[in-house]
This record gives sequence, C-alpha cells and structure tokens, in this order.
Amino acid sequence: MLSSVKKIGRTVRAVTTRNPDQRISRLYELPDPRHQFADRATRYINIGYWADDSTTVDQAGEAVAAMLADAARFEVGQDILDLGCGYGDQDFLWLEEKNPRQIHAIDVTPRQIEGAQRRAAEEGVTDRLHFHVGTATKLPFDDWSFDRVVALDAALHFHTRADFFREAYRVLRPGGVLGTVDTIPLDPSTPRKGFRTPRFSLYRFAVPDENWYDRAGYAARLAEAGFVDGTVTSIREHTWEPWYRYWSGIAQDPSAHPDLPPEVLETVSKEWRDTDQIKGELDLLDYVVAIATKPA
Ligand SMILES: C[S@@+](CC[C@H](N)C(=O)[O-])C[C@H]1O[C@@H](n2cnc3c(N)ncnc32)[C@H](O)[C@@H]1O
Repeated sequence: MLSSVKKIGRTVRAVTTRNPDQRISRLYELPDPRHQFADRATRYINIGYWADDSTTVDQAGEAVAAMLADAARFEVGQDILDLGCGYGDQDFLWLEEKNPRQIHAIDVTPRQIEGAQRRAAEEGVTDRLHFHVGTATKLPFDDWSFDRVVALDAALHFHTRADFFREAYRVLRPGGVLGTVDTIPLDPSTPRKGFRTPRFSLYRFAVPDENWYDRAGYAARLAEAGFVDGTVTSIREHTWEPWYRYWSGIAQDPSAHPDLPPEVLETVSKEWRDTDQIKGELDLLDYVVAIATKPA
C-alpha cells in the first residue's frame, strides 16, 4: 500500500516537472529495473526488430541495434556517438561486433548511465566506451569529432529533435553519417495528447509538440540542418506490429506463459488491460529508420 502511494507520488512529480530533460529522466527512473528486465538477459528499452513471431525480446532489442549500425554504415576504427543510450547494451554490442576506435554514449537518465558505467568497468572496456550523463541537444564535444552519430529509439524525446540534428551535424566530420531509429506519427494531425493508455503515456508526457511530424517532415528537418541524401524508411511491420502481437498475446492469456516471472505478468496485466485501445493508438504511429550524410 505504502509503496503504491509512493509510486503515485513519484509519477505525479515526474509528469509535472517543467524542465523537459528532467521530466524525461524522472519518467525513465519510475520502473524498478529488477522488474522491468526480469524476463530477459539484456537491458534494451526499445521496441525491437522482430524478424518473425518466434523472435524473443532479447533478440528483437539486439536486432534493431544491429540494423541501425548496418544502416548507418559502421566501419572498423570509427569514432561513434550514441545519444539516448539507455543502459548502453547496443554500445557493448557495437564495440564487440563493429570494432570502432571508441564510442561515447550520452543519456539524461543518471540511473541508466550508472548501470552502463558499472558494466563497462566490469568488462574492462572503459578505455574505448565512455558513458556520460547529458543531453543530446547540447553536446560537450568539439566540431568534427565523430564519424557516426546515432540515436536508437530516443530522438522522439529530445527537446527538440531539430536541435539534436543541428548538434549532430556540428560534431560530425564531413562525410559523416547520422542514423536514427525513431517513432513518429503516421499522420501529423493526430493529436499527441490523445494517447491515453498507460502503455503510451510517454507520448503524452515526454514528446515535445515540436517533434510531432511524419516522414516527410522528418526528411525536411534533416535537410534544414544541412544533411544530404536523407532517407526515412518505415519499419513498422517488423516493429510495432509484432511487438503488439507478442505483448497482447501475453495479456490475453497469461496462463500460457508460466515461464515469465510474476513481476512481468503483473506489469503486463496493468499496462495491457485494454489491448484494443492500445492497438487503436499504435495504429497511429510509424517506426522509422532515418539515415543522412553531412556533405564531404
Ligand atoms: C526508449 S529509451 C532507448 C534507450 C536505448 N537507446 C535502447 O535502445 O535501449 C530512450 C532513452 O532516451 C533518453 N533521453 C531522452 N531525452 C534525452 C535527451 N535529451 N538526451 C539524452 N538522452 C535522452 C531516455 O533517458 C531513455 O534512456
């Protein structure tokens, strides 16, 4: 009882925080990581890329990270900047699989950065993998510092995404590539405040109005920041749709999932109470991979 009163207090404090970056970090610190990740080995906080309906949550998180690295053309020896890195699982993956010179990763949520820094120390990679608390819209790096700048399922929150594009452009070397995986509305006239299910409350409380545009709007803002060859491709049939089938399947028949920890079933039963309404809201959203180049 006391703990749920405290949780309501923390939620109200988070959603009423005026500073947008602080509001987001308070919202992302609401879930207890022991519950949030009880069903998996990784700590990805993205929707994931689901190859087919047998994909697991761990595989989906890893697959979307691998897809972004390939789309942004990661190569051996590069300097990479990852913004909105969360617990940094994708950075550990990229360090091992893509062999960059170094990765700097930034997130506004201190708890996530502390977790990522702890893991980097345990794995002995702090000489090449650097985690910082900070914001994607004001970067502590000189012009022309990186070959790649990426944001995996995070730029929707940045205040604003266009400011992040400008900062990414500044810190990229000529010929460098920006890559994002991101959520946007299919139709920008969809009211953002209309997202009412607990599962989508982040759209109501943690996405600035300035970021609410569709694929054409996304490409236009990339071009305004100076990028060329921008592409914004929908991958929603491998993201939102299978993600919905996976979680709504659990919500509709929890007894068919005795393998899942009780705390996960409890969260699903709270957040997925109304699967039809979630589907209705999800049908308004696109999930895209965007790639653009700073002219050489
Ligand atoms: C959906 S999570 C994705 C985390 C990670 N990229 C992943 O795929 O697991 C979005 C992340 O963006 C971070 N974030 C939101 N606004 C930010 C900002 N202005 N600067 C840096 N990080 C931000 C949040 O704290 C959160 O960790």
